[in-house]
Amino acid sequence: MTGSLDGKSVLVTGAGRGIGREIAVEMARRGAAAVAVADRDEETAADTADHVRDAGARAEAIVCDLRVRDSIADMVTGAVEGFGGLDVLVNNAGVVETSFTADPDRGVDTLAEEVWDAVYEVNLKAVWLTTKFAAPHLRRSRRGPAIVNTASVSGLTGFPNAPAYGVTKAGVIHLTKVTAVDLAPVRCNCFCPGVIDTPLAQGFFAASGDRDAMERELIAPQLVERLGRPEEVAGLACFLASDEAAFITGSSYVIDGGALAWLGVRD
Ligand SMILES: NC(=O)c1ccc[n+]([C@@H]2O[C@H](COP(=O)([O-])OP(=O)(O)OC[C@H]3O[C@@H](n4cnc5c(N)ncnc54)[C@H](O)[C@@H]3O)[C@@H](O)[C@H]2O)c1
Repeated sequence: MTGSLDGKSVLVTGAGRGIGREIAVEMARRGAAAVAVADRDEETAADTADHVRDAGARAEAIVCDLRVRDSIADMVTGAVEGFGGLDVLVNNAGVVETSFTADPDRGVDTLAEEVWDAVYEVNLKAVWLTTKFAAPHLRRSRRGPAIVNTASVSGLTGFPNAPAYGVTKAGVIHLTKVTAVDLAPVRCNCFCPGVIDTPLAQGFFAASGDRDAMERELIAPQLVERLGRPEEVAGLACFLASDEAAFITGSSYVIDGGALAWLGVRD
């Protein structure tokens, strides 16, 4: 597919690897003129930027720590100055509790306070701050400005041992609605992936102690019997960012292989 993002300037956070990398490259394939690839990891961001250029768009790698307010402000300024404006913001970066602790006990009654704060800062506060700093530029855009947020099925239903993750992702789903309301006609939507095969998911499986058992347990409720692929999620994100989704705003889209469609578990 080409053309649906023609000429747009895009900023994608957490684009060094996983879902964010696929989104950045797919934006270029679908006609984006320029993609700012933001990540805290300089090397992976530069690598993604190369892939974006190969796919036909201008690219700029921006190193940013989303836990630091001024770093977020600099990231937005860098993207805007580099490309002369901003049409699409994808708030994709996210972390889980196991990104910050090896403690297997991460329940609502046992999670360490600093882990809660770290997950909150990246998954929710940074999404708000990035949106806040990008808003004046998106409002100036004449190319169908849009924000796409990465939430999770964890924001729609409870999962054990991941309270900060689930609560922050529920927050992203609601932040998506209030952003759509306050920034209209800038559109804002989010998507809620199930289990997608990325370094984050692989790290989460490994942290359980029995990688294969954890993967089996997580995909057992799915009607599609496999891990989701980052490129499948990227297709949805690009659609929501594109002019084809011009009548869609304030909405969330589940992409989970059918796990939330029922209360069952496959044999
Ligand atoms: N993989 C899944 O199964 C899954 C499921 C549901 C939702 N999600 C969400 O999708 C998004 C992407 O996940 P992924 O699986 O691709 O993760 P990933 O860990 O593979 O990639 C995330 C990227 O974000 C970057 N990042 C993390 N903290 C950062 C910070 N403080 N500042 C700047 N960059 C930072 C990392 O360096 C990394 O490149 C996240 O929001 C995640 O919560 C993933």
